[in-house]
Amino acid sequence: MLTLSRSDLLRTQNYIGGIWCDAASGRWHDVSDPSTDTVFSRVPDSDPEDAQAATNAASRAFESWRNVSARERANLLKRWHRLILDNSEDLARLMSREQGKSLAEAMGEARYGAAYVEWFAEQATRSHGDALVPGMPGHMQLVLREPVGVVAAVTPWNFPLAMIARKIAPALAAGCTVVAKPAEDTPLTALALAALAEEAGLPPGTINMVTASRGNTPATVGSWLEDSRVRKLTFTGSTPVGKYLARASADTLKRLSLELGGNAPFIVFEDADVDAAVDGLMRGKFRNSGQTCVSPNRVYVHDGIYSQFVTQLKAAVEALRIGPAEHKDSQIGPMINGRAIEKIERHVCDALDQGATLITGGHRVRNEIADGPFYYAPTILGDASASMTLHCEETFGPLVPLFRFSDEQQVISQANDTAYGLAAYFYSQDPARIWRVSRQLEAGVIGINEGVVASEIAPFGGIKESGYGREGSHYGLDDYLQLKYLCQGNLE
Ligand code: SIN
Repeated sequence: MLTLSRSDLLRTQNYIGGIWCDAASGRWHDVSDPSTDTVFSRVPDSDPEDAQAATNAASRAFESWRNVSARERANLLKRWHRLILDNSEDLARLMSREQGKSLAEAMGEARYGAAYVEWFAEQATRSHGDALVPGMPGHMQLVLREPVGVVAAVTPWNFPLAMIARKIAPALAAGCTVVAKPAEDTPLTALALAALAEEAGLPPGTINMVTASRGNTPATVGSWLEDSRVRKLTFTGSTPVGKYLARASADTLKRLSLELGGNAPFIVFEDADVDAAVDGLMRGKFRNSGQTCVSPNRVYVHDGIYSQFVTQLKAAVEALRIGPAEHKDSQIGPMINGRAIEKIERHVCDALDQGATLITGGHRVRNEIADGPFYYAPTILGDASASMTLHCEETFGPLVPLFRFSDEQQVISQANDTAYGLAAYFYSQDPARIWRVSRQLEAGVIGINEGVVASEIAPFGGIKESGYGREGSHYGLDDYLQLKYLCQGNLE
């Protein structure tokens, strides 16, 4: 049973033009609890007809929303922010049920997502253009920042609240309207957010949300890709899907923000504070049970401290408690679905076949508490090497592969030996090394003596095949604004 203080936050319909409605086809798709792999709800299985209705509503709403004063937009976003915080326990319960993260983590995510809404409410009133020093006599030359138009937001299942909040909030703050499709595994948190946005007074059509199954998602989102009224796409998800979306939006030349896969290195130098490094790795790696795109994926440990590091890490990992979200002690929840757990198994098997040593874990877990098919024991593998699949693919689960190193330049080139460039981490107490290594690591986000780095005040996003565009910070608003240059002559 899913019990919410406000049962009206369990929404199971699309939200289009301010109306809650079923899919035009009348079809549904199931929502499952990953803790038990059982269906507990259903939402519309939308198709292009629903996506188009959302675009119609968003285009109409854009004509008035773009002219609403920034102060008024900010006030509405602030009301939404307040409602998210006031209802964070219900949002956390929904999130835990459909995604599997513990209630404590889900509460943290509600606050984290709400912080983006508050931040962009504040930024709405701080956006400005420029008055240029005229280049010609008798002229006035101005630069305006205008909203790009209708924005399509396609979001992942791993952070069902924060990812959609940090796309919708800047879009609305900038004066854009939104059509959104939450991940098929986790649509309920997003629909609850839309219900709170409605309650906050955001006008009909400013946020439109359609849900779809895995099978119907390409056609549903495809309707937005082809539609020239949709001027921007913002997506968080895998690199192959991001590349597909970039190709498919080329015909309408949309603005793109793509927050894609990662393969983060985590380097522990011989001068590191080992206690801090183990603590940072535990917080970064096991956040959301390792299902985070900035999760450390390859851990490089200097030869001189390798054994000490392994001993401390092993003790910390073996102390982690595995269980379902509602269990008060759970720290590691289930993987989202069968495909996710099979990927971890594939990485572990391949590494062991190639000579890795199993330090702890390496198997599924099923017991009285963790009573479902998707639990995987937090795992450490020693003696990992670059030929293993886990070196070039993101595992997205509770697996820590340890690579030994002895030389700074060698480890930097190993860390950069990936197509991805989202996050990188390192631990060192040498100020000169900190500067040197920060400059050389190829990533959009660098954690220095810190394992958890994301925040609403900072630009989040990658380089290389981890995508482009930034979320959060004052830079994050730019992705939703376009420049217009005004040149007035004959003034003298
Ligand atoms: C992600 O995994 O996509 C985002 C993680 C974060 O916000 O820290």
